[in-house]
Amino acid sequence: MRVAIASDHAGFEQKQQLVDYLASELKVDTIDCGPDTDDRVDYPDYAKKVADMVVSGTADCGVLVCGTGIGMALAADKVAGIRASSITTPEFADLFRRHNDGNVVCLSGRFVDLQVNKDIIKVFLTAEFEGGRHAERVAKVMKLD
Ligand code: RB5
Repeated sequence: MRVAIASDHAGFEQKQQLVDYLASELKVDTIDCGPDTDDRVDYPDYAKKVADMVVSGTADCGVLVCGTGIGMALAADKVAGIRASSITTPEFADLFRRHNDGNVVCLSGRFVDLQVNKDIIKVFLTAEFEGGRHAERVAKVMKLD
């Protein structure tokens, strides 16, 4: 499994730690799409980097971190083929995968603890889409792209 990850300045500190967590503890191939410093940047630029990697198949899924997770989700979800959401609990991460087949999880670096975000990522990477009635609904969602 290959995971693309990026942040803006508000998510930078957690992003650095989450890159380590993904690579060292979860042992997944991790593509750090930046930024490399906590200088101010615009979250849509980094949402697009990760979204493009997922749509092209370079990455299987994506992780984005901004202040709230909301801006990243809004931006990434505009890219055709992406199902992105701001997620603040492991329970929502589970349902996001099982029911919505989410492929980009967007995290809050300012309002959610690092450990909770680690737990969210772990669930996001392990929970499986249930298909069935959810597949028909997700297909309808994707027709809106
Ligand atoms: C940056 O200040 C902040 O607006 C951004 O990180 C994000 O929370 C937007 O949704």
